[in-house]
Amino acid sequence: MEQKKFIPALRFKWLTPLYDFLISITMPEKKIKRALIKAANVSAKGKILDFGCGTGTLTIMIKELHPEANVAGIDVDAEILNKAIQKSEKKGLDIFLVDYDGTQLPFEDKGFDKILSCLVFHHLETDTKRTVLTELFRVIDKNGQLYIADFGRSESMIQRALFNTIRALDGFKSTDVNARGLLPEMILDAGFENVVIKNRFKTMFGEVQIISAQKI
Ligand SMILES: C[S@@+](CC[C@H](N)C(=O)[O-])C[C@H]1O[C@@H](n2cnc3c(N)ncnc32)[C@H](O)[C@@H]1O
Repeated sequence: MEQKKFIPALRFKWLTPLYDFLISITMPEKKIKRALIKAANVSAKGKILDFGCGTGTLTIMIKELHPEANVAGIDVDAEILNKAIQKSEKKGLDIFLVDYDGTQLPFEDKGFDKILSCLVFHHLETDTKRTVLTELFRVIDKNGQLYIADFGRSESMIQRALFNTIRALDGFKSTDVNARGLLPEMILDAGFENVVIKNRFKTMFGEVQIISAQKI
């Protein structure tokens, strides 16, 4: 079987068990995730996907805030997904968590009302970003919305300089579109409309932006 190609959550697989701890002490993680959920205005009856869910922190926050919502999480890395499954089972939550091959999402067309994604796109090389956005456009329903929180080009020179730490760690190729502020344009190119940067967070690794977009 062909080996899946992806950049793990903390660049090296052996760091995956430390992900939750390290992200919680180095980033305003909960603040960003809460803002993402607020921006998405999740409703009780919604069908929600957390793309690149990692250890499932955001997925679980969505389900806990909206127990009636139909919540799913997907990640390319089966190992990190196991952590998400363990966390979700421990809390007794009914969340559909699945891994996939990194190219085609195992979901039917127009199956989700809202798709959220946190700190995933800077892990994807430019072609993969395009493929993923096309897939997200396919699986989101008409009038559905996409909300992405990820690093973007900041107006602040200091924030742009700080992003170089992440670029050195995760790779200059996968972070290029983020550093140049081209993610909103790429989301438009995938067919989404009303692409807007809704929030900006200064962090010790550069500016994280929440981008919203709509499938009309
Ligand atoms: C920095 S972690 C973020 C995890 C989680 N969203 C969070 O906010 O804590 C990046 C995640 O992207 C996932 N990832 C990398 N390439 C991916 C792809 N092609 N499709 C889906 N997930 C991917 C990694 O496995 C990892 O879990």
